[in-house]
Amino acid sequence: MKQKNLMRKFKNVLVTGGAGFIGSNFVRFLNNAEPDIQIINLDLLTYAGHLENLSGINGNHYHFIHGDICDSKLVRKILMDYQIDTVVHFAAESHVDRSIQDPGAFVQTNIVGTYTLLENCRQVWNERGGYEGNHFHHVSTDEVFGMLSKDDSPFTETTPYAPNSPYAASKASSDHLVRSYFRTFGFPITISNCSNNYGPYQFPEKLIPLIILNAINGKDLPIYGDGQQIRDWLYVEDHCDAIYSVIQAGKTGETYNIGGENQFPNLEIVKKICSILDHALPESPYIPHEKLIRFVPDRPGHDLRYDIDITKIRTCLEWQPSNDLAQGLEKTIQWYLQNREWIESVTGTSAFQNWLVTNYDKR
Ligand code: NAD
Ligand code: TYD
Repeated sequence: MKQKNLMRKFKNVLVTGGAGFIGSNFVRFLNNAEPDIQIINLDLLTYAGHLENLSGINGNHYHFIHGDICDSKLVRKILMDYQIDTVVHFAAESHVDRSIQDPGAFVQTNIVGTYTLLENCRQVWNERGGYEGNHFHHVSTDEVFGMLSKDDSPFTETTPYAPNSPYAASKASSDHLVRSYFRTFGFPITISNCSNNYGPYQFPEKLIPLIILNAINGKDLPIYGDGQQIRDWLYVEDHCDAIYSVIQAGKTGETYNIGGENQFPNLEIVKKICSILDHALPESPYIPHEKLIRFVPDRPGHDLRYDIDITKIRTCLEWQPSNDLAQGLEKTIQWYLQNREWIESVTGTSAFQNWLVTNYDKR
């Protein structure tokens, strides 16, 4: 059953979306783990991409390219110029609430962009003599499986897809394209489906960083619906470590579920954040931070519960999460408290302020 003996080697790795939350953590992780490999980071720097996320990463082995994964000519040129042998594909539109307001961007980047990468890799790697030594890893989400009710068993790798938001549907579609390239062309892929991440450099439109920042600033803490929706939470460095295991030793053509084995209702997560901040900021005028909680109208199509079974990656690749929610939240909150400049630079834009008005003032 163990597949750790495979151990792929990579020299020139294209990371897409490496200026976003998980992508930038992964670039940092890979740069530390394998300082001699070349990392080429292709990112469009949308509202979610920030070069500030990559501070401290430089040197001859790291290259940033500002561009779109949907730009076929550019993708081909990068694959050729840098002799790319491995792709780790993060670039995506990633926020469910935005997919409700503008699904088109999700279809374009998540579906057309993934196709553009797959097709150019297929062509360039074939022109170079075949797929030997090449690999394409697609980073995906547990949201493709849809929603669980309270008593359902967790998602496994064989759970049928049933996406409920335009975000989840576009990711599901990209997963299917990636899988089809393996089945049809023998193209070398792996896919990972992960639960909700949190940690340093997460853009404060997502639940955990939004709540941290609003609480620090004495603003309302918006809870959709009754706050009883359950997510599984994984500290981002653990996700990076899991992806590293899959690209090294995951069986070609296979999918791996990744999760933190830490499921909590949203309201409980928000209360935990409030309690950590009460201790971390004893002088704050907003103690107890819990009094800032506000219930707001629910997200349309809001999935009740996600839970993910990680038996396969644990058994086959000997990976498991290192941080539980208490440890991860403590580190995350400390990071946000110590990185006020980063917060100001990513939230000070009119685009972000407009998003807050669009998503919250109109609820
Ligand atoms: P993010 O929104 O923080 O970052 C996305 C990055 O992609 C940004 O840097 C953005 O500039 C870039 N990008 C967007 N469109 C692009 C395009 N057309 N061309 C090039 N770059 C483009 O997202 P994230 O939270 O870091 O998620 C990364 C990946 O992980 C996504 O594929 C997401 O579906 C998946 N994922 C995320 C989570 C999570 O909890 N955040 C969980 C599971 C899986
Ligand atoms: P989010 O961080 O957007 O991730 P996802 O929708 O991909 O799971 O949201 C996590 C959960 O928190 C989700 O159930 C929606 C909820 N939520 C709120 O209650 N309030 C908020 O302001 C946000 C952004 C999310």
